[in-house]
Amino acid sequence: MTDRYAVVGNPIAHSKSPRIHAAFARQTAQDLSYEAILAPLDGFAASMAGFIAAGGCGMNVTLPFKLEAFALAECHTARAEAARAANTLKFEPGQILGDNTDGAGLVADLVRNLDCPIAGQRVLLLGAGGAARGVVLPLLGESPASLTVANRTPSGALALRDTFAAQANVAACSFAGLAGQQFDLVINATSASLAGQAPAIPPGLYAPGSTAYDMMYGRGMTAFLASAQSQGASRLADGLGMLVEQAAESFLLWRGVRPDTRLVLADLAAELHGT
Ligand code: ATR
Repeated sequence: MTDRYAVVGNPIAHSKSPRIHAAFARQTAQDLSYEAILAPLDGFAASMAGFIAAGGCGMNVTLPFKLEAFALAECHTARAEAARAANTLKFEPGQILGDNTDGAGLVADLVRNLDCPIAGQRVLLLGAGGAARGVVLPLLGESPASLTVANRTPSGALALRDTFAAQANVAACSFAGLAGQQFDLVINATSASLAGQAPAIPPGLYAPGSTAYDMMYGRGMTAFLASAQSQGASRLADGLGMLVEQAAESFLLWRGVRPDTRLVLADLAAELHGT
């Protein structure tokens, strides 16, 4: 019988996950189906239960259900624990495993696809919500020279720093508090791009040769990337690669096989960016 997987979110119509996982399945000759499920805003638990009852083997979870998915999972990977959010569920006999592959996806995109090493680099992470929290541990795992978290509301950055105080020395400050510092890699994990805005960071933060990475992606350049370009960032990347890489990590968890992401990413990039 064909194994069933799905992505659940609200909205979900424009999700690229079904297409990505179908390509991975073809490439690795895995017999599986992957569908998109729109769950009502108050109906994630029921949608998940229905999918399990119908024989579902695993699920990706997207906005706004990642916290709920984490809460419903009966055991968690260390990276899901650190993020306190799950984007991947694996339905094992008798238990639901919650994982979070977003951070690993970001790191894989930076290191493998973009040839942008994190080791030894001065890294700035903008934002302190769920998206930022999910990538802190995987970034630290790459041994950056420093990791600074800055947030519009400074208390959010301080709270995030304190969460990871046992793991490493993370610096935290307000946007204004960044003035005078320089970074090799600036990652936008705020949701500002959704509103077409760029985080109001001071000028002069981009070191020569630096990279600006927006975890969001879209057809054109995001406001953050446009502003990074005008402030001297040498390289710009949006989150399309992260999307494909987090999917590959989920696929690996479910199927025990790591798909080759290059062709799938090239295909999506051609469609979105014309590259
Ligand atoms: P997500 O799960 O996407 O991280 P979230 O938990 O609601 O969503 O967090 C949104 C993050 O984007 C927060 O860090 C938020 O900053 P505040 O804590 O100050 O609210 C940040 N954010 C949203 N809009 C922003 C904007 N226009 N400029 C800068 N930061 C913004």
